[in-house]
Amino acid sequence: MTLNFVRIAYAYDRTRYHPPEVSGKIATAIVAPVEEAFREPAFLELGVGTGRVGVPIVARGYRFVGVDVNPSMLEVMRYKIAGVGRKVKLLEADARSLPFERGSFHAVIGVHFWHLVEDWQRALLEAFRVLVPGGFLFEGWDTTTAASEDWRIQEKWREILNELGFQLERGRHQRRLAEVRQAMERIGLEPEEITVAEWVEDRSPRQSLEILGERLYSFTQKVPEDVFHASLERLWEWARDAYPDLDQSYPIRWSFVMRRTRLPE
Ligand SMILES: C[S@@+](CC[C@H](N)C(=O)[O-])C[C@H]1O[C@@H](n2cnc3c(N)ncnc32)[C@H](O)[C@@H]1O
Repeated sequence: MTLNFVRIAYAYDRTRYHPPEVSGKIATAIVAPVEEAFREPAFLELGVGTGRVGVPIVARGYRFVGVDVNPSMLEVMRYKIAGVGRKVKLLEADARSLPFERGSFHAVIGVHFWHLVEDWQRALLEAFRVLVPGGFLFEGWDTTTAASEDWRIQEKWREILNELGFQLERGRHQRRLAEVRQAMERIGLEPEEITVAEWVEDRSPRQSLEILGERLYSFTQKVPEDVFHASLERLWEWARDAYPDLDQSYPIRWSFVMRRTRLPE
C-alpha cells in the first residue's frame, strides 16, 4: 500500500463528504424498499471506497459486504466501522468477478462506480448473478443543479488545457449511466430515478483549485503530468486576478440521485 494511495483515500473523504442528514437520506432510500421486501436483507456495495454510502448502512446494523480494488480505500472504511461492524465484510475484490455464490444478496449498490470500469457489462452481469430474484440494484451519483464558481474554475481549466493542446474529456460518468440504463431496459428492466437529497456546499476558489490539484476527479487523471502542472500554474495565476479574495466561499448546489432497479421475482 503506497503512501500515495493512502493520501488519495483520505483526500477523497475530505473533498467528497456528504453532510450527515444527506448520508441518512441516502441510507434510508436504499434500505427502506429492501427491508419491506425481504427479512434480514444482505447488502453488497461495489467500489465501496471509504464507505461514504456504506458506513451509514452498516451503522443501522444490516449485513453488509463491500468490495473494492483499492486496499487503501477499504482500510479507511475499516477504521470508520471499528466497533460497529460485526456483520460487515470488506474484501479486496474486482466487481467484474465477484467471489460470491449466485443469489447471495438482496441489494447491490454502486455509487460513482460504472465510469471507472471499462467493461462495465461484466460487472453488471455479476451484480445480477449475485442478487436474489426480486433483488434490487441501486446506482447513485452526486450532481450539481446550477452553475457555480467551482464549475467556472473547472471550465477555465479546460480552456487552459486546450491552449496547451490537451482536450479534456468530461461527462464520461453520465454517458456511462445512460449506457447502463439502456442495457437494463433492453432486457425488460425498469430503472426508476429519484432525487434523494439536496444540499449546499460552500467552497472557496482556493479549495476548488486545491481539489483539482489533488487529481481526485477521474477526468483529471488522463492529463499528462507536465501539462497538468503547467495548466494548474496558469489557473492559479488567473484565479488570483479573477477573485480578490481566494478564501471567500461560494455555494455549490448538490443533489444526490438514486436509480433503483428491481429484478423480476
Ligand atoms: C469514485 S470511488 C466511489 C466510492 C464510493 N462508492 C463513494 O461513492 O464514495 C470508486 C471506487 O471504485 C473502486 N473501483 C474501481 N474499479 C473497481 C472494480 N473493477 N471493482 C471494484 N472496485 C472498483 C475504486 O477503487 C474506488 O474506491
